[in-house]
Amino acid sequence: MINIAVLGYGTIGSGVVEVLKTNSDSITKRAGDSIEVKYVLDLREFPEDPIMDKIVHDINIILDDPEVLIVCEHMGGVEPAYTFVKSALLKGKSVVTSNKELVAKHGAELLDLAKEKGLNFLFEASVGGGIPIIRPLNQSLTADEIMEITGILNGTTNYILSKMSEEGVDFDTALSEAQRLGYAERNPAADVEGHDACRKIAILSSLAFGMQVDFEDIYTEGITKVSDVDIRYAKALNARIKLFASSIREGEQVYAMVAPVMIRANHPLYSVNNVFNGIFVKGNVIGDVMFYGSGAGKLPTASAVVADVVDAAKHLEKNIWTIWSSKKLELTNVNHIQHRFFIRVKDDAKIKEQVANLFGSVEEVKVDGITGEYAFLTSDITEQDLNENKKKLSDVLSVIRVRF
Ligand code: HSE
Repeated sequence: MINIAVLGYGTIGSGVVEVLKTNSDSITKRAGDSIEVKYVLDLREFPEDPIMDKIVHDINIILDDPEVLIVCEHMGGVEPAYTFVKSALLKGKSVVTSNKELVAKHGAELLDLAKEKGLNFLFEASVGGGIPIIRPLNQSLTADEIMEITGILNGTTNYILSKMSEEGVDFDTALSEAQRLGYAERNPAADVEGHDACRKIAILSSLAFGMQVDFEDIYTEGITKVSDVDIRYAKALNARIKLFASSIREGEQVYAMVAPVMIRANHPLYSVNNVFNGIFVKGNVIGDVMFYGSGAGKLPTASAVVADVVDAAKHLEKNIWTIWSSKKLELTNVNHIQHRFFIRVKDDAKIKEQVANLFGSVEEVKVDGITGEYAFLTSDITEQDLNENKKKLSDVLSVIRVRF
């Protein structure tokens, strides 16, 4: 029997307990031993819950118990999760976490510590919920140089954009609906401002390129400026607007960005809708690979956590090698990145002439019923050129990057 402790009995922690119970026989077969939850750490009591006898409020009870071999952390946030996880590793326990803030900030250090101790620090559930992506990057796509990872990594924003596109509603209406259904947090800033996707692409990039990609270095734009009018233009262009988190290698350089983009049906992520996540990976020998599934939710996320617990149980005292050094990867300055852009400006008598002078030849986009503005697609230009030209236009209504 392998004893584990679960830190945090919220949505994911309780999901982990449930999955271990529901699939106990098959999990035992796969792990080679039964997995038993010995403790659950939480500030609250759960008097009606079968887990109530296992609830503890003091982390030291878990840290000081040599029978606990694996600790699952689902508290979220950097502290006290970081202190508890580090202490668990120092006490000889492997750690499984779903906490992207913790992994993005301290992943390299905690992996080093696990390696030094002959233990494991596993975090499949921190990106893409139930979708296997960390293990494939770490253990399957090892023959390849990764050239690109582009993901729809946030279910809440994907739901909002899908709803705006399918029902023609504005951003606030779609956000309220996401909150009503429990997809978005009550304070949804981390989702809608792109911070959640930013941490996830930082983790994937660090694994793909084997160096520390700091999330603070990634240019991040959320979806709060995407309007129902933009969506109408996207439809006229046979396109959809998606929040992309991308990391792309060009020669020796890597650039990373989180931003809304317009894509057409020929893009592999076009059909990833509603709360689903999708991750597109391009390797230099394998070519294109796609991962799709539930990027959030109690049981899908718990499924990824328990898969890590099984892996940790199969590798007690044997570190699973992960390439993610603490050496910082300097990302390409965002100003040098090139895109096509979709731009809407207020109309006036000289606007076409002014746009032509600034951007050269552009493609005008018209939508029946929308008046008083001029919309167009540029050719490939750098972010720097875009920003300089934007300053010279008096009334810019929106700018969205285009991938077609
Ligand atoms: N808020 C996140 C999302 C949860 O909407 O995708 C999973 O990390």
